[in-house]
Amino acid sequence: MIIAVDGPAGAGKSTIARLLAAALGFLYVDTGAMYRAFTLKALRERVDFSDVPALAVLARRTAISLCPSGAGDLKVLLDGSDVSAQIRTPELTNAVFNVAQLPEIRAIMVEWQREYGKRQSLVMEGRDIGTVVFPQAEVKIYLDASAQIRARRRVAQLAAKGIGVDEAQTVREIEARDEKDFTRAVGPLRRAADAFYLDSSSLTIPQVVDTLLAHVNAQRSK
Ligand code: DC
Repeated sequence: MIIAVDGPAGAGKSTIARLLAAALGFLYVDTGAMYRAFTLKALRERVDFSDVPALAVLARRTAISLCPSGAGDLKVLLDGSDVSAQIRTPELTNAVFNVAQLPEIRAIMVEWQREYGKRQSLVMEGRDIGTVVFPQAEVKIYLDASAQIRARRRVAQLAAKGIGVDEAQTVREIEARDEKDFTRAVGPLRRAADAFYLDSSSLTIPQVVDTLLAHVNAQRSK
């Protein structure tokens, strides 16, 4: 069974997809981590983002694997080395769109993502999972939240780590990322017509998980 979870940055997809996968005993696959890891590789190898043929060659020589580690978490391995922390820096986050907008690279990523689905039941999160990667997924979820709420959550997350950021600035950054995700020519963020839409703005994490589990179970018993 494939459960596709799409939605904008900061809507809580990773947290929710991870919990959903743990509750169902499915594999959790974070496709954003794959785009991030490949961006890190391109930066390290100093391949220019405008040199698409070189990037495609590089992608073919790159091994990215997502390994379940403790508490439902994922360890992201780039050519065998753990890059889980390096792919989450603000600099890397800002650079990913350079590769995510390239049809040639998206095609390779989609191929890798489909491979996971051949082996086991999974919860896969991203932007184009229900529309491009697995349009035939048994369950599609579009998880949303207002930009204001997503920014507030981000500010709270960083504050918990002792990092102070401006909320208004965070809203602007989130809106800029949304713009890139929605307007990309290939694999843009779209709500699939048959996706279950959930706005988590005023819901707690357990409420979101319970709602989605009820939806998944209803689909399974059909
Ligand atoms: O979900 P995230 O923030 O880790 O995603 C990182 C980047 O990758 C973000 O710029 C959107 C992009 N992405 C994408 O284009 N398609 C996906 N399926 C997943 C992520």
